[in-house]
Amino acid sequence: MIPANSPALAAVITAAALMSSVATANPSPAAAKPATSSATPSTPEGSLDIVQLGAKGDGKTDSTKYILQAWKNACKATGTQKIVIPAGNFLTGAILLEGPCTSDIIIRLDGNLLGTGDLNAYKTNWIEIMRVNNFAINGHGTIDGQGPLVWNHNQCHKSYNCKILPNSLVLDFVTNAQIRGITLKNSKFFHLNMFQCKNIHIERLTITAPGDSPNTDGIHVGDSTNITIRSTSIQTGDDCISIGPGTKTVRISDVKCGPGHGISVGSLGRYKDEKDVEDLVVSNCTLKGTTNGLRIKSYEDSKSQLRATKFVYDDVKMENVSYPIIIDQKYCPNNICSKSGTSKVAVTDIVFKNIVGTSATPAAVTLNCANNLPCQGVQLHNVDVKFAGKGNTTIAVCNNVHGKSSNVAKPLACL
Ligand SMILES: *[C@@H]1O[C@H](CO)[C@@H](O)[C@H](O)[C@H]1NC(C)=O
Ligand SMILES: *[C@@H]1O[C@H](CO)[C@@H](O)[C@H](O)[C@H]1NC(C)=O
Ligand SMILES: *[C@@H]1O[C@H](CO)[C@@H](O)[C@H](O)[C@H]1NC(C)=O
Ligand SMILES: *[C@@H]1O[C@H](CO)[C@@H](O)[C@H](O)[C@H]1NC(C)=O
Repeated sequence: MIPANSPALAAVITAAALMSSVATANPSPAAAKPATSSATPSTPEGSLDIVQLGAKGDGKTDSTKYILQAWKNACKATGTQKIVIPAGNFLTGAILLEGPCTSDIIIRLDGNLLGTGDLNAYKTNWIEIMRVNNFAINGHGTIDGQGPLVWNHNQCHKSYNCKILPNSLVLDFVTNAQIRGITLKNSKFFHLNMFQCKNIHIERLTITAPGDSPNTDGIHVGDSTNITIRSTSIQTGDDCISIGPGTKTVRISDVKCGPGHGISVGSLGRYKDEKDVEDLVVSNCTLKGTTNGLRIKSYEDSKSQLRATKFVYDDVKMENVSYPIIIDQKYCPNNICSKSGTSKVAVTDIVFKNIVGTSATPAAVTLNCANNLPCQGVQLHNVDVKFAGKGNTTIAVCNNVHGKSSNVAKPLACL
């Protein structure tokens, strides 16, 4: 054993301190790589650069097959393999990138991918990553859905059971993945959709679409666990981030939203057999000019029994948000549910703290819970949001809600 004061140990400590200071000063390069598989990288049978494979970045030639070829080459290799999409405008149709793969794959995206406006080129989604473990997308490129070419085909404002247009980037059954740095713009439907995913890290994305574009949600997460979204800016025509049933452990921080519909949990209870939404933390975010701020919504006549529980919203700034804090257990769009229905979605243990700024309607706080299933354990601490308009005063609308509050602006202190 080395005595605690030995020079040898001191040298070890100094080296460790040095290494950790280097690691702290520059954390991203190492973190940007997915966990490397134990296998040593093999040489893939074909190139992983789509231009070398034959793709043309002229914005007109269909590059779909070259991306599929690069994926095929990477997926059957071993170790970490990097697909390169260099600068250029690459037009494509549907791209299904399926695993399982024997390698870990990084897609380096520096060019622009353009989703064709020909809807016959898609079955459901545009770029779909499926059943892949240890995966990353990074770079400075753009995934451009070219939504303006097809938004007039969107019927979802007229009919609730409408045919949905292709989502831009979809992760299905993906585990241990990172998406960093890229831009998603003008999706035909959602920009980024995750279903049954686990351990996903999203950082420094830019997501943009016009404020009046239909169903262009920024990020939707459903049936997934351990999802982190940070340092991201989202301006769209629908939800900034929405979290669907069956989702657990979501961390959202340093996200800027607006225009759009805000950060939303729900809608819950629309279908049978939905699972709980649990353990959500939203911190250090700004919402600007959105219709909702922090929202939890469930159907008035929910079809399944579940819980929305253990949420913390901390340090969120509102700028002219129509409904900054809103729990709506009586959600019933287009009158599709029976008004006499009873809620089976229990909303419990929800903390709002350090929420400040302005609202565009008087109702800065709306806690509208069901008569048959009141919300429990709702807390408001350091909440001060003021109506920014004229000729009216700030109010809280609270029904069937139990909990406690401290240091809340007087008109909002309804708990
Ligand atoms: C959650 O996901 C991150 C990657 O985003 C990973 O580093 C971490 O270990 C995961 N946590 C658990 C408990 O699996
Ligand atoms: C909070 O947000 C600000 C502004 O977006 C950012 O500069 C800062 O790094 C964030 N802090 C944390 C702890 O996420
Ligand atoms: C606030 O929002 C309302 C409605 O969304 C809009 O009409 C108004 O111009 C906005 N005010 C400011 C100061 O941005
Ligand atoms: C003030 O706001 C409340 C709640 O939104 C609304 O019902 C009422 O009509 C408003 N009053 C005026 C004078 O605009």
